[in-house]
Amino acid sequence: MFVRRIAVIGTGYVGLTTGACLASLGHDVVCADVDADKVARLTRGEVDILEPGLAELVAEGIAAGRLTFVLGAAAAVRHAENGPEVMFLCVPTPMGVGGVADLSIVESVVEEVRDLLPTGCVVVNKSTVPVGTAARTEELLVRDDVAVVSNPEFLREGSAVYDFLNPDRIVVGGSKQDAAERVAALYSRLGAPTVLTDAPSAELVKYAANCFLAMKLSYVNAVAELCDRLGANITDVTEGMGYDKRIGQAFLQPGPGWGGSCLPKDTSAMLQLADAADFEFRLIRATIDTNTRQRQRMVEKVRLAVTGRRGGSLSHTRLALFGLTFKAGTDDLRDSPALAVAALLRQAGADLVGYDPALRPDARHPDLAGITIVDDPYLAAKDAEALIVLTEWPEFRGLDWARLAESVRKPIVVDTRNLLDPAVARRVGFEWIGIGKP
Ligand code: UGA
Repeated sequence: MFVRRIAVIGTGYVGLTTGACLASLGHDVVCADVDADKVARLTRGEVDILEPGLAELVAEGIAAGRLTFVLGAAAAVRHAENGPEVMFLCVPTPMGVGGVADLSIVESVVEEVRDLLPTGCVVVNKSTVPVGTAARTEELLVRDDVAVVSNPEFLREGSAVYDFLNPDRIVVGGSKQDAAERVAALYSRLGAPTVLTDAPSAELVKYAANCFLAMKLSYVNAVAELCDRLGANITDVTEGMGYDKRIGQAFLQPGPGWGGSCLPKDTSAMLQLADAADFEFRLIRATIDTNTRQRQRMVEKVRLAVTGRRGGSLSHTRLALFGLTFKAGTDDLRDSPALAVAALLRQAGADLVGYDPALRPDARHPDLAGITIVDDPYLAAKDAEALIVLTEWPEFRGLDWARLAESVRKPIVVDTRNLLDPAVARRVGFEWIGIGKP
């Protein structure tokens, strides 16, 4: 294997995972960020992202002298005497006006390094960017001697290191075949199937995959609704579906809707992309609408459970929310379905107390406004008219449910993740209400 000199621009969860993992594969990596404090902390090996295994890899990389942190993209390019052979762009591409990805950070980095990159360097887009961004990057670079390729990441938050080191596939696309092959070779030790293609196809793979995952979840949530109406059991239905190898068991768990920093952004961006190409992508529209409806449906479930009738009032009803992050195993609140449901409950007049294993009472986030956060589940449950499980933290199963039953005013648990064992909750007197469960 060749050891390559690599620069990684951006030390968010994608950039830092990419940098630390490439260093662990033996490459020489320099990571850049614009936040001086963050660079100083990372240089001391302090990782503030909750990502299993990442802090250990960063420490190993620093100790081995294969991983360095510097301030700014230009410093990363100047770091090694001959400059980087490959430069990864892992900077944010937030959802901008009208759901279009905002590429201003990518563009400013390209401008910053344009005249500094050595001949033969390959610039790699790893951020999720609209189709056409590689071509746009080439235009901005105005350098025939520097290639641009797209190499989308498929990392899940909470298992990013595992996903990086055990990829289902590597996708690299660009107009210069040798540059794409050079990037693919960085991962050769991982033995994953590799798709070498053109840049627009590589860029589209990422959107097409994330939208398919979102569609799978909206489909499952809709089937769960049908189960509720027909008296069928979603767990058995999805198990029965999932043994079909063409469907698979993964990503079939119903919930309060999908969220996070990726699926909502990417489904909106895909709609925009299609729109700009004069194509009405109705499946994606329906996927998003079904997700919005799923959140409202959870509120209707709570209303019915607490008041005994459809449309009953939740005004001044104290509700305990268990789990606020967008999924278990992360402290990320971005586009969290739990917080979307909380916002609807608040609009309906409910008083909300929240407990989440990853959040402290002083946690700050605009969407937390109106929720009293406590760091004790039993305190959250005190005098509540219902407990609502919104995030699938496994530790909720191990709580003392008898003690919770004594704390609440009404022993009702609405389990929007079908996380708990209903028998356990019922044994201590709770009425357990799941989704798609008879
Ligand atoms: C997602 C994709 O899974 C990754 O492959 C992709 O690389 C990443 O986006 C990205 O674009 O960077 P992530 O956002 O970390 O990863 O989260 P997921 O694990 O996919 O979960 C997304 C949402 O779906 C969460 O709200 C989760 O609770 C929900 N979900 C997931 C379900 O409701 N049911 C399931 O069976 C699985």
